Amino acid sequence: MGLFDGKVAIVTGAGRGIGRAEALLLASEGAAVVVNDLGGETTGGGADQRPAQQVVDEIEEAGGVAAANFASVSSWDGAQALVEQAVDDFGRLDVLVNNAGILRDKMSFNMEEAEWDAVVDVHLKGHFAPIRFAGAYWRAKAKETGEPTNAAVVTTASESGLYGNAGQVNYAAAKAGIAAMTLVLARELERIGVRTNAICPVARTRLTEEVPGAGEYMAAKEGEFDRFAPENAAAAACWLASDVSAPISGQVVKVQGGLVQIVQGWRPITEATDDKPWTIESIDAHRGALFAKTGEGVPAFLTPAEQ
Ligand SMILES: NC(=O)c1ccc[n+]([C@@H]2O[C@H](COP(=O)([O-])OP(=O)(O)OC[C@H]3O[C@@H](n4cnc5c(N)ncnc54)[C@H](O)[C@@H]3O)[C@@H](O)[C@H]2O)c1
Repeated sequence: MGLFDGKVAIVTGAGRGIGRAEALLLASEGAAVVVNDLGGETTGGGADQRPAQQVVDEIEEAGGVAAANFASVSSWDGAQALVEQAVDDFGRLDVLVNNAGILRDKMSFNMEEAEWDAVVDVHLKGHFAPIRFAGAYWRAKAKETGEPTNAAVVTTASESGLYGNAGQVNYAAAKAGIAAMTLVLARELERIGVRTNAICPVARTRLTEEVPGAGEYMAAKEGEFDRFAPENAAAAACWLASDVSAPISGQVVKVQGGLVQIVQGWRPITEATDDKPWTIESIDAHRGALFAKTGEGVPAFLTPAEQ
């Protein structure tokens, strides 16, 4: 008995890295998996059908069921065809794992328009487009059957988008957008029985191998489990995708090595009030209350470098 027996899943960007590990785990737990991957370079250029096909071959060799899809996730038509393929090939859709991603790091003042557009396109539109068509499918199904669909969406955010990372303004803006999108989708899709959660993974993949110093930090160490193996992050995504985690929805889950955290933010932590219209001076007069160390978790003002 597998946790995903009888279920059908799509994993985007599943030809390599974390997506590959997610597809393999879902398939080993009984899901039929549509393995989407454009097969591009880390910066988004190029296309190669082999990574997605290799993962399909691996799943089938292990006795599982899978089909390849080579569309770009940021193609509106491609995303629609991806969802249709799952339903046509395997009869239904239960799980959508949005994972595909690229990097084009640059300091903001040096960034080219194409670098901004490519990253926002693959991450932000590339998350939304498959969700748009999967959501429409689930809504139609819920209407037809009168039953909640019991489906799950897992998105892939990043700490970079939550805490800010210099040199990644395009990527961080897109990942913050994905976290916000996840909260909206959790509210919108709850009524038709779809849970939506995000992971913030940290894993050894070709994306992190290029980061200076990351290679050694993320290498498997003797005497401990392989903390940065993509399989470790995939477990969190597949937990959120599985019925085991119900009714959890609208959450952002960070997974790094042996650590799992629920991350929440953007809530008021201090306040100032007045019964007159605000002026520049009157707001500044409350600065002490807004940034004073007033209690647990309410820090004094820190400069961006200190944060
Ligand atoms: N590795 C980490 O530590 C880390 C940290 C935070 C977030 N993430 C996120 O995890 C996700 C997976 O990254 P990874 O580290 O496994 O990288 P990876 O490069 O190993 O895998 C990403 C896959 O996405 C595919 N892809 C890229 N653009 C695509 C498109 N338009 N359509 C379809 N497929 C496309 C690539 O071909 C590649 O196979 C990304 O969203 C990334 O931003 C990774």
